[in-house]
Amino acid sequence: MIRSIALALLPLLYLAAPASAEGDATAGEAAYAKACARCHRTVARITPFIEGKTAAERAAWLDAFLAGHHVTDAKIRADLVAYLLAN
Ligand code: HEC
Repeated sequence: MIRSIALALLPLLYLAAPASAEGDATAGEAAYAKACARCHRTVARITPFIEGKTAAERAAWLDAFLAGHHVTDAKIRADLVAYLLAN
């Protein structure tokens, strides 16, 4: 019963999230540690180079950049974008 209520509410949570937060920042943090940190070390070293004025522009730039920079999986890219833009 509780489970079915939670499942029914899930789409509402999804709709309430801002468009730029489709990815999961926690999963993005893990992906960063696994795939990016060995070259970039801290996130602070790359965030100043993310191009775009608005969050949507920055997300679009990162998504396009990462597609050609080690991250072919769209879901992992979305998670990384969520994580990088939150830091
Ligand atoms: C093998 C080393 C390596 C790995 C792994 C790597 N990068 Fe990079 N990254 C670079 C280098 C070198 C540059 C600068 C040259 C360029 O633009 O390709 C760069 C550039 C960038 C930039 C553009 C900003 C800047 O500093 O020029 C971003 C954003 C970025 N990387 C994010 C990531 C993310 C997120 C990951 C993890 C999926 C990742 N990188 C994995 C080496 C790496």
